[in-house]
Amino acid sequence: MSALPPAGRLQWTDVPAPLRTRLEAVLEAPVTDAVTPAGGFGHQLAAALTLADGRRFFVKAAPTDDPLTAANLHEGAVLASLPPGAPAPDLVGIHHAADWTAVVIAHLDGPHPDLSPDSSDPGQIWSLLDKLTSSPAPPPYTAAVATTPSGAAGLHGWAVLLANPPGDLDPGVRHRLHELAELEATWPALAHGDRIVHGDLRADNMVRDHDRGVTFVDWAHATTGPACIDAVSLAPQLVLAGHTPKDIARLLDEHPATATDPLASTAFLAALTGHWHRNARKPAPPGAPGLRAYQHRAAAAGLAVLGHRLN
Ligand SMILES: Nc1ncnc2c1ncn2[C@@H]1O[C@H](COP(=O)(O)OP(=O)(O)OP(=O)(O)O)[C@@H](O)[C@H]1O
Ligand SMILES: [Mg+2]
Repeated sequence: MSALPPAGRLQWTDVPAPLRTRLEAVLEAPVTDAVTPAGGFGHQLAAALTLADGRRFFVKAAPTDDPLTAANLHEGAVLASLPPGAPAPDLVGIHHAADWTAVVIAHLDGPHPDLSPDSSDPGQIWSLLDKLTSSPAPPPYTAAVATTPSGAAGLHGWAVLLANPPGDLDPGVRHRLHELAELEATWPALAHGDRIVHGDLRADNMVRDHDRGVTFVDWAHATTGPACIDAVSLAPQLVLAGHTPKDIARLLDEHPATATDPLASTAFLAALTGHWHRNARKPAPPGAPGLRAYQHRAAAAGLAVLGHRLN
């Protein structure tokens, strides 16, 4: 599993009292414990609440004018519209008070999945992705994400690095900059599709629930697109967790989400690694201390898989 550093998150006690009171009223019991999970990069409240009667809920909350609230509302709409059986928790409710907005989600109980080669979790995740992408997204989901542009479609980086190659760029990468820039340039035209795309699939955006098994969380970036997006995004994560790039490249060759569209899969892997290579060199954004180091590692892992696809 990729070890992500904890971010400087807001705590339950940072939430204005009127919203805390409202949540306790709608959930029909006082909150006795609030645990902020480690992992992720956001600054908003994201906490597992335990109520006096023992029930638990997961809550994401931020000031209503914080851009994260728009993302949380999008996530709420997505959770409410995913097809039955989708690997996602249920939406419980959305509440506003004191110029803050909270999205309440069913609590999942368990650790993040183990992406290492010794674990059965990766196999389960590939099966979930196959099921999720094997047919077009249902109309309610498509409607829920209709106004949300695909984050993946705009990813790029190699053309920028080619125009001004950084001094610390690996010579092997520098040598291939033209090829990589050409490849990523093909991605925008291939980035359209009618499948469900989670859009941010990493181990810390999944929970291995004791009852449900591996379940995807953090649907804030969900959209529609080609089937390959989540599978390709997962590939570098698996390399970071100890799989060989060769094994993962073979898996992409065989998995239905990527095998059905090899050109889009390769183009997206190029765009994604270019995005990481470029962003890893930018100054760290506030509240996300480990992000750039993570992007450096992810970029190298993704490029290793891409190397097998191109050779
Ligand atoms: N429904 C849930 N039940 C239990 N734990 C959850 C649930 N949803 C998310 N988590 C845990 O909380 C963490 C943060 O949640 P989430 O990723 O949704 O928040 P975020 O602020 O959007 O994240 P990021 O920091 O990745 O942008 C997740 O990494 C996961 O460990
Ligand atoms: Mg997250």
